Amino acid sequence: MTHSENEVYPPSPEFVAQAHIDGAKYEEMYAASVNDPEAFWGEQGKTLDWIKPYTKVKNTTFEYPNVSIKWFEDGVLNVAANCIDRHLDTRGDQTAIIWEPDDPNAPARHITYRELHEQVSKLGNVLKGLGIAKGDRVVLYMPMIPEAAFAMLACARIGAIHSVVFGGFSPDALASRIEDCSAKLVITADEAPRGGRNTPLKANADKAMEICGDVPMLVVSRTGGGPGMKEGRDHSYEALMAEASADCPPEPMGAEDPLFILYTSGSTGKPKGVLHTSGGYLLYVSLTHKYVFDYHDGDIFWCTADVGWVTGHSYIVYGPLANGATTLMFEGVPTYPDAGRFWAVCEKHKVNQFYTAPTAIRALMGQGPQFVDPYDLSSLKVLGTVGEPINPEAWHWYNDHVGKGRCPIVDTWWQTETGGHLLTPLPGAIPTKPGSATKPFFGVQPVVLDAQSGEEITTTEAEGVLCMKDSWPGQMRTVFGDHERFVKTYFSDYKGYYFSGDGCRRDADGYYWITGRVDDVINVSGHRMGTAEVESALVAHPKVSEAAVVGYPHPVKGQGIYCYVTLMAGEEYTDELREELRQWVRKEIGPIATPDVIQWAPGLPKTRSGKIMRRILRKIAENDFGNLGDTSTLADPSVVDDLIANRANT
Ligand code: WTA
Repeated sequence: MTHSENEVYPPSPEFVAQAHIDGAKYEEMYAASVNDPEAFWGEQGKTLDWIKPYTKVKNTTFEYPNVSIKWFEDGVLNVAANCIDRHLDTRGDQTAIIWEPDDPNAPARHITYRELHEQVSKLGNVLKGLGIAKGDRVVLYMPMIPEAAFAMLACARIGAIHSVVFGGFSPDALASRIEDCSAKLVITADEAPRGGRNTPLKANADKAMEICGDVPMLVVSRTGGGPGMKEGRDHSYEALMAEASADCPPEPMGAEDPLFILYTSGSTGKPKGVLHTSGGYLLYVSLTHKYVFDYHDGDIFWCTADVGWVTGHSYIVYGPLANGATTLMFEGVPTYPDAGRFWAVCEKHKVNQFYTAPTAIRALMGQGPQFVDPYDLSSLKVLGTVGEPINPEAWHWYNDHVGKGRCPIVDTWWQTETGGHLLTPLPGAIPTKPGSATKPFFGVQPVVLDAQSGEEITTTEAEGVLCMKDSWPGQMRTVFGDHERFVKTYFSDYKGYYFSGDGCRRDADGYYWITGRVDDVINVSGHRMGTAEVESALVAHPKVSEAAVVGYPHPVKGQGIYCYVTLMAGEEYTDELREELRQWVRKEIGPIATPDVIQWAPGLPKTRSGKIMRRILRKIAENDFGNLGDTSTLADPSVVDDLIANRANT
């Protein structure tokens, strides 16, 4: 990627004048937040509604192996009450959720805070009626419909822990997530319309239960299609809601009681259940939502993510609703019915802040400006990106065609693990540079370490691995059911720090530029994927003996999935089998994991001890043969020449 370090875009004076935070205020608050985190967060914590106020603020250590993270630990609150009940007096009739359906001709829904309160309370009682109690796990496998938000909030209201599984995941992936957290209930819908096609959620959930065994299911009727209900196991959402009482007092929860689990990919093994808790998480997402998007009362906020990802949790549901915002939820895709849909929705609902992924911007950019230029986008004030670095070309297209040069672009770097934004501009305070996530949010202390020595690089200009020196309230607390894995994954490589897994560069102005993952995680269309997961799906096929998966640069997806596959002795390397394997991975994990390239590899480059040298495979996939490094330790160096000669066209 070409860096545009010297290209700087300050916000306009008009924007700064109305912003919550300007440059001087940022400097002052940032300094206060890191000089005295207790005082800073102790004060910020008061923006939430506490049933019992905290007396302790921060109790955290990154000290290996005794890592422990607690914020506001003796405080008691309820997250749903903070997102709903406390707004009823002041904004009961204000729209909390605008729902825009997949079909542009179908009516949008506007759900007020009062209606949200009623729906969530009823659903809380439905869950209780199904035997769900505080601490129980509930899996959500849902379309992008308001009922998904109701379900998250209903869990929070009664103290149950939700685990949302992205609707694009396969029955196998769903089954392993149901099993891993011993879910007591699955909430799903008959079908999920997206881009004019219906994903068979209920049918997938039925299949998942053939694998993991039956779990009670609550089924929302979205399309009226899908398979029938199984007696004794399945319950109709509509039928139970019709009978439910709307009186459901919020459960008092400790600040450190779990709020949700969200599975995410790592460099090894199965996806891990990232656990977030109640008080610190809610405070962190509400504060970042307010300041990073410069959200003001009455604004319409739209985050295009799916609720199956952390971005949807933090910036469709919890952050905006905690702030009493109007949050837009979109069921469809950016290219249906055509590549103007995002902009049609922005115009229709007069969206003020718009937050999406670079991969979507690149895809729309490729369709041409005629899909965006006709729309009235004058309501927009702030644009955001998340998920991967944005390339300068896409940045400029976004700035010129969507923001019309008026809207600051906030490039937010964060992770499922971090709960909310860690590196990001505040739009009225920090001049942006295309492709840089710029500066730390309040309380965040990034450091750049030398990857080999683990030493902190103290010069302003630095390149290395990105770590955090101290905790922030939105940080994950543990891996569900496996605290040791949590400690090992994030705190063992660089002792005393939280290790993000990303590489970065810090420029002369102290701006951070994310250079991508330094582990075996790849980023495909902003979705995180462990190469190990794709490999294990491939080798599960009876004809495959070995597989190695790496990322390679892809013009739209950011990274594509490049697979090297060795077949069992005697199997034939055919194009039909290649296609069969692509479909196989799709079925095992889900469409987002479909390999872009499968290269037959009768031999893989291995060390004499049998370890696959992925570095070499990465270089070949990246078309960077000049720089293969030392291949002398390979058991059979000639396999490299063979792989280069047969490299697939990308
Ligand atoms: C990448 C998504 C560059 C990064 C919220 C990180 C980014 C991973 C950015 C987390 C950004 C996210 N610039 N890279 N603005 N945002 N990433 O857990 O590699 O799905 O580690 O969280 O996405 O992905 P996750």
